Amino acid sequence: MINGNLKYVLCCFLILLLNCSKKEVMSKDAQLEQKIDSLLKLMTLEEKIGQMSQIRHFEESAEESISEKFIGSIIHTQGPLPGEIAEEWQAKFVKLQKKALSTRLGIPLLFGVDAVHGQNTFEGATIFPHNIGLGAANNPDLVEKIAKITALESQATGFNWVFSPCIAIPFNEKWGRVYESFSESTKITESLTKASVRGHQGNLEDSSTVMATAKHYVGDGATNFGVEGGETSLSTEQLQGLLLPPYKVAVKEKVGAVMASFNTVTGISMHAHKALLTDTLKVGMNFDGILVSDWKAYSRFGGIDIINAGVDMVMAVDGDLDDFQQGVKEGVESNKIPLSRIDDAVRRILRQKFRLGLFQNPFPDSSLVKKIGITSHREIAKQAVRESLVLLKNKSVLPISKNIKKIVVVGEHANSSGLQSGGWTVNWQGTEENYKGATTILDGIKKQTKAKVVYDKEAEGDHLDADLAIVVVGEQPYAEFFGDIGHESNKLTLELTIEHKNYIRKYTRKGIKTLVVLISGRPLVVTDEINASDAFVAAWLPGSEGDGVAEVLFGEYNFKGKLPHSWPKSLEDYKGKYGPNFWDNSIKPLYEFGYGLQY
Ligand code: GLC
Repeated sequence: MINGNLKYVLCCFLILLLNCSKKEVMSKDAQLEQKIDSLLKLMTLEEKIGQMSQIRHFEESAEESISEKFIGSIIHTQGPLPGEIAEEWQAKFVKLQKKALSTRLGIPLLFGVDAVHGQNTFEGATIFPHNIGLGAANNPDLVEKIAKITALESQATGFNWVFSPCIAIPFNEKWGRVYESFSESTKITESLTKASVRGHQGNLEDSSTVMATAKHYVGDGATNFGVEGGETSLSTEQLQGLLLPPYKVAVKEKVGAVMASFNTVTGISMHAHKALLTDTLKVGMNFDGILVSDWKAYSRFGGIDIINAGVDMVMAVDGDLDDFQQGVKEGVESNKIPLSRIDDAVRRILRQKFRLGLFQNPFPDSSLVKKIGITSHREIAKQAVRESLVLLKNKSVLPISKNIKKIVVVGEHANSSGLQSGGWTVNWQGTEENYKGATTILDGIKKQTKAKVVYDKEAEGDHLDADLAIVVVGEQPYAEFFGDIGHESNKLTLELTIEHKNYIRKYTRKGIKTLVVLISGRPLVVTDEINASDAFVAAWLPGSEGDGVAEVLFGEYNFKGKLPHSWPKSLEDYKGKYGPNFWDNSIKPLYEFGYGLQY
């Protein structure tokens, strides 16, 4: 029993302790702001505008621009690789960083990359299932581990910033970027956003963590008819209720950057939408990080208006740099842009550079190179593959019996790590080829069984004596608007190609047990194929560890995945503005959101 006096002394001590620790925390934040202030005071207008400029490592004579135009960030996307091996990637960025450090104020560079399912621009990195598969797995701990590995392998190739996670809420499977987001469910998206930001950023000063980017703010997946960069005509309530919550979670997790979106909201370009960029995000959510533009936004979405609306750093790529820098300089000098807006932008950029510890450790850790694609990383990726699979139908086919004698495997998707990985893999638009370090679904099937396995890529052989046909079909890789259904650049539909339908039909119509494994970045209209087959698995875009699929098909693991999107039954469901799930409740999906069978 503590007597009265002692209790009083203890309380005082605790209050003193709390005050000190609060002052301690306050002094850390206050110290950071003081460092920023003292640096900001020294900067010329050109140096400030330079910090707001982002270019690719191979354009604008990058080294010269860093020295003379005070570039604040370098990115790698869509263009020549920084090198062959990871050491060369690091060396290239070290050289550019040294250029930045030798400028008058020596402010270090941010190096950004679209590492959206592993460090997917580097062949040999661990490639995870795209986010739609992670939404099906719905395992936040796993997502955090995946983000941590992605951050490490990104740092190993010289990057301290990734443009990930995409936290869109897709409304319509016609959109070409459904696979980049987790789910149609705001709740699942909030949960996995938190895990992803935490996994990527961890302790930001650590040499194996990176700054994350919540994107694309806001309404990218909710455009009319799923058009990339189209019009999002949602009400404020719908934005507040469905699309903004994941951003609130990301900001609460101290996400270092948010990327503005290509679409318009009620007719205003998101890049020039001051109410949503500044009032709602920066002020309303208290976001203190970098609002970065998307591709070439200065010339595409309103020039200096995007700066006044709240954009802090501009992806001034593909010829935009000089117009951007000159335009903003003139804007400030003619009072069209308040200097306070520029100072706010630069403050945010410097704040993240300090938080990343770049002023003390501006260079990547070369010891991380040997960790790219290591077994322990691939084991996590394989677990994600297994947990992402959704079993839609199973008429006594799965798990595949160990006593089976002959299996015929059909379809180019069974034997191509490129096709099973989708867009943003090795190349921007993905690849159809096998790539370094990856395993295919066929590799996995062969490992799992003693049966005779015959691979008949285009179903031309005569294998009607097979006990089981495993037909692996689906979409070709695509990224961004190239995946929009109805876009002039492609002939994509929401159905399988006639060739893929025939692969399936060849065996179903002969009464051969047929399992279909669908490789796709979104639910497709495959009602007839599901009805015709004996078993049907949605595998999404598994990434490099294709052999993880077979571990579930042969029963080493049970199915766990649940549909992150409701599954449409017919093309007629798409006659509406958004498709069947949100606005026209009279249309019932083939499978509800959350559906998934197990053994
Ligand atoms: C693209 C994408 C964005 C990506 C950026 C850099 O247009 O919209 O997601 O991060 O450009 O590649």
